[in-house]
Amino acid sequence: RKKVSLGTLRSLYKKGEPISVITAHDFPSAHVADAAGIDIVLVGDSLAMVALGMEDTSEVTVDDMLVHCRSVARATRAAFTIGDLPMGSYEISPEQGLATAIRFTKEGRVKGIKLEGGKEMAPTIAKITQAGIPVLAHIGLTPQRQNALGGFRVQGKTSKGAMKVLEDALAVQEAGCFGMIIEAVPAEVASIITKKLSVPTIGIGAGNGCSGQVLVQVDMSGYFPPGRFLPKFVKQYGNVWAESLRAIESYRDEVKSRQYPAPEHTYPISNEEVEAFAK
Ligand code: KIV
Ligand code: NA
Repeated sequence: RKKVSLGTLRSLYKKGEPISVITAHDFPSAHVADAAGIDIVLVGDSLAMVALGMEDTSEVTVDDMLVHCRSVARATRAAFTIGDLPMGSYEISPEQGLATAIRFTKEGRVKGIKLEGGKEMAPTIAKITQAGIPVLAHIGLTPQRQNALGGFRVQGKTSKGAMKVLEDALAVQEAGCFGMIIEAVPAEVASIITKKLSVPTIGIGAGNGCSGQVLVQVDMSGYFPPGRFLPKFVKQYGNVWAESLRAIESYRDEVKSRQYPAPEHTYPISNEEVEAFAK
């Protein structure tokens, strides 16, 4: 498979072919995404919950993210890799944002970065873009601001709210982002915004009219214990948890019953050597 570049993404967008995006947080999850032919692998800060067991994304640090970015970058042969700037690492100033983006590139080995926010982040997006680091913006529901937004709420549900999302989209486009994630916005609104833009929109809970889609890998592959809350927009395509549980339970049972290891899992030695040794 050919390496995905910004040029590849632009040509997919021009052709109207949806851009496929999925998160990964370590070497195996990135490897399988790359093997599946995904266009963009995103090291999302959602790894705070799905890989580190944290309550939300506010706890994850730049250093945490960089370890995971490096492991993902080692596995992605073709997919374009993006690292998610965590809360606190870019909001203070465009300079802070650029400094963090440079660390993600040099130490995290990713090709581009993502950050949350609309209009107010435009100067930061411009600064990072002008330094030659591709930026994926993230508008609509921005989970790092959950406390200010009053939780994980659908955005743009009124004409006034939709106008705010559109203004953010135009501002981040003007600032030079190569595309933007639109999260938790009614499908009609995301579709109209997509038509008004000249860069791709990557939807998550934003309907089928976006230029591409993103999901968190453990959600769509079902790698979580039963009973976990899933947002309305998640489609679960597999049950990796059930398969992993089945495998590990079988192993445990075979250890307990001494069925494992069988002779074919052991190293041979001649009878003479055993007798000489056992004497
Ligand atoms: O952190 C993340 O995984 C994300 C995607 C869901 C867009 O930001
Ligand atoms: Na994120």
